[in-house]
Amino acid sequence: MDLKIENKRVVYPFSVGIDSETGMMDDYDVHIERWLKDITKMFYDENAAIKYLNKHGNIKIYEVYEKGIPEIDGEVRFCSSITYPGKIGDEYFMTKGHFHSRPDTAELYYCIRGHGYMLMERENGDYVIEEMYPGRAVYVPGYYAHRSINIGDEPLISLPVYPGDAGHDYGTIEQKGFKHLVVDKDGKPSIIVNPYYKE
Ligand code: PA5
Ligand code: NI
Repeated sequence: MDLKIENKRVVYPFSVGIDSETGMMDDYDVHIERWLKDITKMFYDENAAIKYLNKHGNIKIYEVYEKGIPEIDGEVRFCSSITYPGKIGDEYFMTKGHFHSRPDTAELYYCIRGHGYMLMERENGDYVIEEMYPGRAVYVPGYYAHRSINIGDEPLISLPVYPGDAGHDYGTIEQKGFKHLVVDKDGKPSIIVNPYYKE
């Protein structure tokens, strides 16, 4: 092994525990929490989000635990992604969703707990939805924005794995939204076209 190459690597072999009940990662380096107050605009019915806040106060929608693996080509990053159960208006709790900054990079999600959907959508609006439940893996190809949606009544926990240099582009979804949304219709998840989607 060329020592110079080895020295460039900041990562040494390790293993880590992820609790299958809570999604909590042992010895995590980064913990991201997304609360309703910070992401009201991500829900298509923003008024419902404001009403919810006024009535019930703030609530945690999802959180992520991760190890501080360098964001470089050759590394593999992973995390524990936990989306809580609930709805804002008729829209299920979900992650913000994003494209990758390097848009050609793919991602694999392995579901550990709960019941949900992975919404995958291209910039032209073409979309695919795959079900998530324990033991199920979802492959997200490059060029697809992706969002986890919890349609069940327990936390939706998954382990996303993606190339070190993939990066997260949140801006596109923050501006345009997803063209498709998953909402509750008569007690069942149903796909609708986002009335506020900006082509
Ligand atoms: O990289 C991924 O796709 C995941 O690790 C997500 O970051 C995680 O599920 C949280 O979602 P978001 O990044 O859309 O807030
Ligand atoms: Ni991703």
